[in-house]
Amino acid sequence: MNSKAKIQPAAGKLGVLLPGMGAVTSTFIAGVELIKKGLGLPFGSLTQLQRIRLGKRYENRNPLLREFVPLADLKDLVFGGWDIFPDSIYEAALKAGVLTEAHIKPVQKELSAIQPWRAVFDPRFVKNIQGPNVKRGKTKMELAEQIMKDIEAFKSKQGLSRLVMVWCGSTEATLEPTESHQSLGAFKEALERNSPDIAPSMVYAYSAIRMGIPYANGAPNLSADIPALVELSHKTGAPISGKDFKTGQTMMKTVISPALKARMLGLTGWYSTNILGNRDGEVLADPESFKTKEKSKMSVLDSILEPEQYPQLYGKYAHKVRIDYYPPRGDAKEGWDNIDILGWLQMPMQVKINFLCRDSILAAPIVLDLVLFLDLAFRAGLKGIQEWLSFYFKSPMCRTDLKPIHDLFLQHVKLQNTLRLLMGEEVLDYSGLDYYDPEKGTPSPAPAPRPAPRSSSRARERALSR
Ligand SMILES: NC(=O)c1ccc[n+]([C@@H]2O[C@H](COP(=O)([O-])OP(=O)(O)OC[C@H]3O[C@@H](n4cnc5c(N)ncnc54)[C@H](O)[C@@H]3O)[C@@H](O)[C@H]2O)c1
Repeated sequence: MNSKAKIQPAAGKLGVLLPGMGAVTSTFIAGVELIKKGLGLPFGSLTQLQRIRLGKRYENRNPLLREFVPLADLKDLVFGGWDIFPDSIYEAALKAGVLTEAHIKPVQKELSAIQPWRAVFDPRFVKNIQGPNVKRGKTKMELAEQIMKDIEAFKSKQGLSRLVMVWCGSTEATLEPTESHQSLGAFKEALERNSPDIAPSMVYAYSAIRMGIPYANGAPNLSADIPALVELSHKTGAPISGKDFKTGQTMMKTVISPALKARMLGLTGWYSTNILGNRDGEVLADPESFKTKEKSKMSVLDSILEPEQYPQLYGKYAHKVRIDYYPPRGDAKEGWDNIDILGWLQMPMQVKINFLCRDSILAAPIVLDLVLFLDLAFRAGLKGIQEWLSFYFKSPMCRTDLKPIHDLFLQHVKLQNTLRLLMGEEVLDYSGLDYYDPEKGTPSPAPAPRPAPRSSSRARERALSR
């Protein structure tokens, strides 16, 4: 049987669960509602706009991704979530100030109807904000049970057939993996005894994964990236992915550094600084939360440049990342990068990047794609870490014995090839040697589209694990 037949149809409504209903969440939901009314275009979203090439170049088969793989329709998405502030999504969007009142007025009714449920919160993990809309419980296990009840109630009230959860909450303080995170048994025991090793994002992640609900983490904190929750995801069949949406400066880093390496240009230093003034910036002004973000932002260069393989080129570069909370800017973040590079005979050169971006405008389409692709993964029976979604993350999750892939274009090839495999199409390796042979050149007249070759399920599994 081919895989396409194994993918369950995207029938019925899809519940989108969002712990953290601030700037990213409100921009995402407002955007989906506006797009549904034809009042905006989903720029930045692969699932809505991108095409995928299939087969040989001369076959001219380039369907839209959403026509190629069975994805849930935007009209079937229903939103729910938790926040420590009781503001509706309409109020949260106005406070975040990413979109103006004029932008969101046409969807005021839809946004006002979404009120956050009480959150699981612990001020030790997020220091710079406090809010009244929080749950009480004797243990963290009890709090997880309350989250699961919220989800059950949402599911039955809205008549949902499936759900996906994406953490869009604040960045939590750094937490090093401990014994409590190493196995499902130890983790459950830690929930029961209220261990300080369990952050709120882990309580949400546990609840979702235990219910077999796909989970993605948009922030850099550990959350589901621990052996205990990976183990649980295999048990319940929940696909998981994370961490930390790859949006502005780090996206540029993972585009520029592969180019330097591909051309064997050296690097002596990379200085990155940002100013931003949204609530995320306020949280990151706490050194503990910043440490988590810094780790996530720093890891990409070493992983791409591989200084251990190229000590002369990349053995000694300086790397500095700064984020400064600067309220006047709100969500309109500005990032500067100064890159000191070396060319032929070690002659120094410089690259400067000045990215005037809008944080949540870049993050919102990522949330949409993750929701739709994780739901696809779930219906296709893929469980555990979904490395093909690394494209969307600064600190991609992968098996502990593997190095994560950070190069944006390698991640993109991996994503598209995974979709080809799922649909029984050939993966593209871009060698194209057969085009060199005139005997095998473009047949004339141009051939009719070929039926898709179906790979066996074992070959497909082998390829997916590459
Ligand atoms: N916008 C981007 O480009 C981008 C990129 C990468 C990662 N992120 C991450 O995405 C997350 C959301 O970003 P944002 O700009 O929307 O931030 P935000 O501060 O506007 O929203 C986060 C919300 O989470 C809530 N919250 C905090 N702890 C919670 C808890 N335990 N339960 C429920 N709600 C909780 C806060 O009250 C806040 O409303 C942050 O962690 C940020 O670092 C954002």
